[in-house]
Formats: sequence, C-alpha cells, structure tokens
Amino acid sequence: MVNVRDIKTAVKIGSLVLKNPVMPASGTFGYGEEFASFVDYNLLGAIVVKGLSLEPRAGNPPPRIIETTGGMLNAIGMENIGVHAFIKEKLPFLAQFNCAVIANVYGETVEEYQKVAEILSGAKGVHALEINISCPNVKKGGIAFGTDPDTVHDITGKVKQATNLPVIVKLSPNVTDIAEIAVSAQDAGADAVSLINTLTGMSVDIISRTSNIANLTGGLSGPAIKPIALRMVWEVAKKVSIPIIGIGGIMSPEDAVEFLIVGASAIQVGTANLINPLATMDILEGILAYLEVSDIMDIKDLVGSLKTERPREE
Ligand SMILES: Cc1cc2nc3c(=O)[nH]c(=O)nc-3n(C[C@H](O)[C@H](O)[C@H](O)COP(=O)(O)O)c2cc1C
Repeated sequence: MVNVRDIKTAVKIGSLVLKNPVMPASGTFGYGEEFASFVDYNLLGAIVVKGLSLEPRAGNPPPRIIETTGGMLNAIGMENIGVHAFIKEKLPFLAQFNCAVIANVYGETVEEYQKVAEILSGAKGVHALEINISCPNVKKGGIAFGTDPDTVHDITGKVKQATNLPVIVKLSPNVTDIAEIAVSAQDAGADAVSLINTLTGMSVDIISRTSNIANLTGGLSGPAIKPIALRMVWEVAKKVSIPIIGIGGIMSPEDAVEFLIVGASAIQVGTANLINPLATMDILEGILAYLEVSDIMDIKDLVGSLKTERPREE
C-alpha cells in the first residue's frame, strides 16, 4: 500500500500550482477570515472568496435563503464590500497563509469585469481569478453573460487581456449545452473552468402564497444538485483540455472522489461549509485516505478515470 505522505496531490491551474485539489466555493466561505478558527488554511489547496464587484453592493432584500429538500435556495444578489475594501481590509489577513487566494469576480458590464480583474491583478496576494458569469440572482451581469457561447468568448477574452493571472471561468448549469460554453471559454484563453454554479429554483409558502425568497427565484445548491453537476463535469471533460474544477453538492470525501473520476482536476465545497465548517478539512483527509487504500500514488491518475464499460457479470 502507498504511504499517504508520498501521495502526489498537486494540481496545476494555468501557471498556478495548488498543493491539493480542495478549496471552498465562492460565497460560502466569506472573505476567508470567517472560517480561520475552524480550518487550517495552510492545508487548503486554495481559498476562493466571495464575489467582488467594483463598488460595494447591498444585495437583494431578505428573505434571501431557504432550506429545501436536499439543499437550499439563495438569492443573495452579490452583496459584497467591493474590490477596493477587499484588497485593503481582507487580503492582508490571507497573506499570512501558505495557500493560494482565488478572487471571484462579478460585474454588471463587461467593462466592470475587466476593471475588477485589472485591480485584483495589481494586488499582492491574489493568485488567480474566477470569473462569475453564472450568478442567477442579479438583474444585470452574472448569468446574462454565461448562457451564450459568443458572449462567453468575448468576456473571457477581454478579462484575459486585463490580467496576467490565471483565469477560471465559472459556468452556469442553466443552459442547454454546458460543454459548448466551456469550449468557448477555452477558445478565448481561459486557463480553467469551474462548474457548476447554482440552478435557478423556487420555493412557495402555501399559506401566504408568496415565494419564500423575496427575489421570487433563487439558486439551488447542496446535495440535490450533485448528480446534475457530475453529469455536466463529465460532458465538459470530454470536450476541453483545460483543467475543470468540479462544484455542486459535495458534502463528503466520496462525493469529491466522484467528481475527480468523471474528470475534475480539483473540487470546491460550498453549501457543506454552512453545515459543517470543517467540511473542507474532512473532505481533504478522506480523499487522501481513498488514494491510500486504492494504491494511487498521484491524484492525476484518478482524474477522468471513469470506466464506461461495466465489468461482465460471470
Ligand atoms: C449563499 C451562497 C452564496 C454564493 N455566492 C457566490 C458568489 O458570490 N460567486 C459565485 O461564483 N458563486 C456563488 N455561490 C455558488 C457556489 O459557489 C457554488 O457554485 C454552488 O453553491 C454549488 O455548490 P454547492 O452545492 O457545494 O453549494 C454561492 C452559493 C451560496 C449557497
């Protein structure tokens, strides 16, 4: 059996090398500081912070979250402190850890995405950008840029021009053919794609006959979306050569391993952090244990190892 200490877990995202494939998903881990008393950031592959816009945003009115069967809906509406306050007040704290920082970028216009990307590129301690063109809870920007292949090509290319950092394009599942969108991002120079963001959903209070979300619709996340996310990662993996970061309902190490098998090189843990703040640590530990008992020396050998033929029954 391989020794867990000898197992290679490094993952490459463009020019960025992550020491392992586990990171929190944007919007479920604050700006980093919030989880520092639970998680040893030196052990994480990366920290992905809440989406950042050029100016601070108040987000949508409450109620903004509601639990649903096997998951939750949220319609936060990209509330955030703005890119300048992030750089001044939050980034210095993250710099003390041996951990990559990935900034999630949001804009109402292509120009805003470019500007935020440019500002973050000039900040010490940001190692990659994740471009959120998949938020379903805003009237402008977000998903409006993520559902048409030509628009995705255009925005990816323009963000690439504005930065020297690796660019990860975060894809929406609210499309007919997610692989087509992923190919557009790759063709325009994306260094990686991450998927999936939330699926648009609803929840109704039958007494008042109003939506449980003030925004009327919200984004579904959690275990309920995992089978869809897995299928989408698998479809994208067949079409692109850039790394894929798998996201969607990962609650356990076994969930994470499923994503690696269908073709994700790394994974993000979202809703699970809200239930168990130690989720990222538990998942990392469990992935290592799986590699050890499976005699896999390098995590790369697990990525995309799905067998599409079932063994013949005797
Ligand atoms: C409360 C909440 C806030 C989120 N905020 C963001 C965000 O700012 N930017 C982004 O790209 N995704 C955001 N997401 C989407 C998650 O990063 C992730 O893609 C999604 O929740 C699916 O993963 P999960 O099922 O593990 O939660 C948010 C999700 C939740 C639940």
